[in-house]
Amino acid sequence: MQNLKSSIAKKISETIAPDAPESMYSDIIASLEYPPDPTMGDLALPCFRFAKLMRKSPVMIAESLASSIEIEGIGRIEAVKGYLNFFISNDYLAKTLLPEILEKKDMYGSSDEGRGKTVVLDYSSPNVAKPFHIGHLGTTVIGHSLKLLHTFCGYDCVGVNHLGDWGTQFGKLITAFNLWGNREEIENGGIDALVALYVKYHEEAEKDESLNDRAREEFHKLELGDEKNIELWKWFIEISIAEYKKTYAQLGIEFDSYKGEAFYSDKMMPQVEKIREKGLLKIDDGASIVDLSDYNMPPCLILKRDGSTLYPTRDIAAAVYRKETYDFDKVIYVTSAGQSLHFAQWFKVVELMGYDWAKNLVHVPYGTVSIGGAKLATRTGNVILLRDLFADAVDKVRDIINEKNPNLENKEETAEAVGVGAIVFYYLLNTIIKDINFNMDDALSFEGNTGPYAQYTYARTCSLLSKAEDARSNEGKIEISAPEEASMLKVLSRFPETVLKATHEYEPSYITRYILDVCTGFNRFYHECPINSAEDASVRASRIKITEAVNYVLGRALSLICLKTPKKI
Ligand code: ARG
Repeated sequence: MQNLKSSIAKKISETIAPDAPESMYSDIIASLEYPPDPTMGDLALPCFRFAKLMRKSPVMIAESLASSIEIEGIGRIEAVKGYLNFFISNDYLAKTLLPEILEKKDMYGSSDEGRGKTVVLDYSSPNVAKPFHIGHLGTTVIGHSLKLLHTFCGYDCVGVNHLGDWGTQFGKLITAFNLWGNREEIENGGIDALVALYVKYHEEAEKDESLNDRAREEFHKLELGDEKNIELWKWFIEISIAEYKKTYAQLGIEFDSYKGEAFYSDKMMPQVEKIREKGLLKIDDGASIVDLSDYNMPPCLILKRDGSTLYPTRDIAAAVYRKETYDFDKVIYVTSAGQSLHFAQWFKVVELMGYDWAKNLVHVPYGTVSIGGAKLATRTGNVILLRDLFADAVDKVRDIINEKNPNLENKEETAEAVGVGAIVFYYLLNTIIKDINFNMDDALSFEGNTGPYAQYTYARTCSLLSKAEDARSNEGKIEISAPEEASMLKVLSRFPETVLKATHEYEPSYITRYILDVCTGFNRFYHECPINSAEDASVRASRIKITEAVNYVLGRALSLICLKTPKKI
């Protein structure tokens, strides 16, 4: 659709403003609308904006333009109440659009806008030895989807898991391990055994305050490099990462770096010095802070009273390190909206420090997740683990497959792809800032606007294509004979701009919603138009080629939101 929008904007700007067509061009592109009803055209342009310049009424402008201009790819132009309605020609769909998709295959929709630019994405980043719970779903799948989208737009992307692998919780964990832990139990029990220790620590510390002193002491020893504590700490991290990687594998996620907060231990002091040199550091009740009252924010905490560093200090050091290491054009941080102030504060500090790249730090916040209305508690063992949520969905899908398609090959793999996919799709269907309440039955339905429905539609395209190798290679000309074919192709033509919009606005839900449009279009086409059973060979070949194009776009779109694409379900 972008090409058509450009042709329209070019023609109209040249006609209306022959002296300065460029300034009008982008304005027209931006104001082209998708009419809600196809009888009003495939694209519409309100002409009110030209009234002043042309000293004519919008109605007259629309009428005179409709009767005087011709645009390649547009079959018909109608003037209705001050609007210009454009109807795409079937000829364009058959001869330009479809061949383009078939040639680019699953790269249709990609672009090179990011060529030569590097984007660092900081996402998932759980706190080690704490459970990976459903609150982490957002940062993990939004972050990864943004990485895939940017890669598809030609950016070089670096995915960083900024593990929370430093902090006083390690003092607690070491204390708990020394008191009640057992190596073998933890080797076998993995992260669950660590979480159990952590929970026990908190229960005991409620009764016995002296435990907190012990924990502080152990953390202090860790900071000083005590060999035994360092060894334990590394081991806790290893066990935790092994567990996270299982979840990442279910989502098809790999990170380029696991450099967590601890990595910046020796990189913070030079930045603290720099803050001091700039005259930004103030002492407040013993702690070192940067006053941000001029910017309507509470102060950013840099050092505690005892001189130890804090979360913002580590983020500042990490940003400087990433600039030096990757020379990024942008860093995207994906966290819950609860951390918005934290990011606003330290972004401001980096700016005040004089780093001009501060403007290239972007925080992408998302809303909360609850299940059946229950908010998720942390710190106690009472949280819903992402792993359990996935397992539950996979079990349910396995039951459905056993009932409906018991002989399916790769049953387990498919159940996992569909079960996990259902949760991700449900989650990414809403704008990310919205709080969502999870409903498993809705997520898993094969009928609603769900992941299973979308993956099933994809599998249907695969099955049609597998029975039509002969028609795919048919060299005959492509014909559009039914309105459902044309509508389907028009939906496909919107893919490239949807990808760009989702990327620019950090909003994977545009892709999720778009997937539903593709599925609706395809299922309508499938029900109205015989495909493999079409009698006429060239009609059949054309329909198979449309199906092939849907297959590329749908497969790519699903993978851009972290869904897998089984060929059979
Ligand atoms: N570990 C943090 C948490 O679980 C998230 C880290 C986000 N990234 C960052 N650079 N601060 O809350």
